[in-house]
Amino acid sequence: MAAPAPVVILATAKHTATLIFLHGLGDTGQGWASAMAAIKPPHVKVICPTAPTMPVTLNAGFRMPSWFDLKSLDESGQEDEPGIKNAAKQIHSLIEKEESAGIPSNRVLLGGFSMGGALAIYSSLTYPKPLAGVVGLSCWLPLNKSFPQAMKSGDSLPILQCHGDCDPVVPVKWGQMTASLLKTFLHNSTEFKLYRGLMHTSSEEELEDIRQFVSKHLSQ
Ligand SMILES: *[C@@H]1O[C@H](CO)[C@@H](O)[C@H](O)[C@H]1NC(C)=O
Ligand SMILES: *[C@@H]1O[C@H](CO)[C@@H](O)[C@H](O)[C@H]1NC(C)=O
Repeated sequence: MAAPAPVVILATAKHTATLIFLHGLGDTGQGWASAMAAIKPPHVKVICPTAPTMPVTLNAGFRMPSWFDLKSLDESGQEDEPGIKNAAKQIHSLIEKEESAGIPSNRVLLGGFSMGGALAIYSSLTYPKPLAGVVGLSCWLPLNKSFPQAMKSGDSLPILQCHGDCDPVVPVKWGQMTASLLKTFLHNSTEFKLYRGLMHTSSEEELEDIRQFVSKHLSQ
């Protein structure tokens, strides 16, 4: 289950903030590293971890990098609750590592794509200290019934959710349902952006919105 070391892009100015970005199913940290390197401010360090390799039910039990087991990609499908919680613990320990290196939690921003975005949102809401924010791309909120009870983040966690309206993998409807649910307990701090014609991937326009969100919430 050991995963390869994360891809780390060092700050090019004095390091005062960290962005941790989680890839989607079957990908690796390398998959998003150059896109994040291109949009990060100089004082931000980027960490792109790679998920452990495990059998994935959705893909007939084939082994691939995956943060937790995915049984279905359907908003009413069964979820791997212990797997999700365990993955969140791994992400929490990455955040703690930044904290012990002198970066306060409110200078750490999480992001992710697809199941990585789902884990980023879940991990941020369940981290016991305030984070700078979270970017969830083409994703959903896992274990949604446990919220807001499971929430430890405080109710002003800034969340930017982005989703393509032609996503054939994670239906945009699911992203929108997640956005409405998040709004019920995060009052003012969430934003949902829809991208016309975008499938289960990213775009220049979306990356520009992420760049702006990151520079706003991890300002110098
Ligand atoms: C929350 O999860 C349940 C299944 O556990 C699902 O039926 C419901 O649609 C989900 N809601 C959102 C907002 O994703
Ligand atoms: C929402 O934001 C507005 C303007 O920033 C603020 O006045 C209001 O108190 C906020 N409401 C909540 C519930 O946080």
